[in-house]
Amino acid sequence: MKGILLSGGTGSRLGPLTARINKHLLPVHGRPMIFYPLSTLMSAGIRDILVVTRPEDRATFRSLLGDGCQWGLDISYAAQPRPEGLAQAFLIGHDFIGGSHCALALGDNLLHGPDLVKRLKSAARPRKGAMICAQRVPDPQRFGVVEFDQSLRAKRIEEKPANPTSRYAVPGLYFYDNRVVDFAADLRPSARGELEITDLNQRYLELGELYVTPLDSDFTWLDMGTPESLKTAADFVAATERSQGRQIACPEEIAYRMGFIDADQVERLAALSSSSLQSNYLHGLTTRPNST
Ligand code: DAU
Repeated sequence: MKGILLSGGTGSRLGPLTARINKHLLPVHGRPMIFYPLSTLMSAGIRDILVVTRPEDRATFRSLLGDGCQWGLDISYAAQPRPEGLAQAFLIGHDFIGGSHCALALGDNLLHGPDLVKRLKSAARPRKGAMICAQRVPDPQRFGVVEFDQSLRAKRIEEKPANPTSRYAVPGLYFYDNRVVDFAADLRPSARGELEITDLNQRYLELGELYVTPLDSDFTWLDMGTPESLKTAADFVAATERSQGRQIACPEEIAYRMGFIDADQVERLAALSSSSLQSNYLHGLTTRPNST
């Protein structure tokens, strides 16, 4: 399974913060926003990752994440000249995906919860069809919304319906088989001029191959695309890290716990860290018990 980390778009809902700084580089409790969805892909066991950004931001992302080898990853980059929709990621990533299955993580989404690694690894197991999640939210009209039948099978999926028939929103993490590239190529722009991820999911739904996993209420899913949700995310991360004594989206820690890098590499990264606090945290990883 390969992974695309979509970090383009204009971030207009966060203006003027995003007038000069790409949204996905804004700080969310001490680390750039993009570390959260990157950590999600890593926790799913995905190491081959394509970061899609605006052309003018590519160099900045590259200087932040590099080629990923420090975390045992293989990170490459591609540009999306205009924000023409989430599903365009699969056209831009056509060569990168090759014959593989592919996950898509939205650059402004945070996912945290119990047994995250176990659940994500299972979601990322290559299978025929598509796998998405659903979570009950108070404001479904802001999201893709999925409606279930009585046996909890997805019945309908709609993008930002004015009058939602369900409270289940679709988080920005999607797993597809290789047909996603062809299905994306068949899409036509929606009324708002975008290749919609919801239309792609609709295609799988029509084939009876869209699997929707409802997230338990102890799961936290946040998008960080508005001033309110950005603050909520930062507050959530701060409170959770304080109570658990562990960082939520520390790529070094996830890489180590996932077995992508060894203790010696963690020590090397600790020595390179410009913050003594972070250096101590990383140093402690090789001695603290492993609890994922
Ligand atoms: O957050 C989950 C929701 O994300 C889903 O429930 C919706 O179905 C899905 O359409 C999407 O809705 P948003 O309105 O939140 O999408 P937004 O335009 O904010 O873009 C999400 C991320 O993708 C954001 O990090 C910017 C990036 N993006 C967006 C577009 C449209 C791109 O990189 N390129 C694009 O063309």
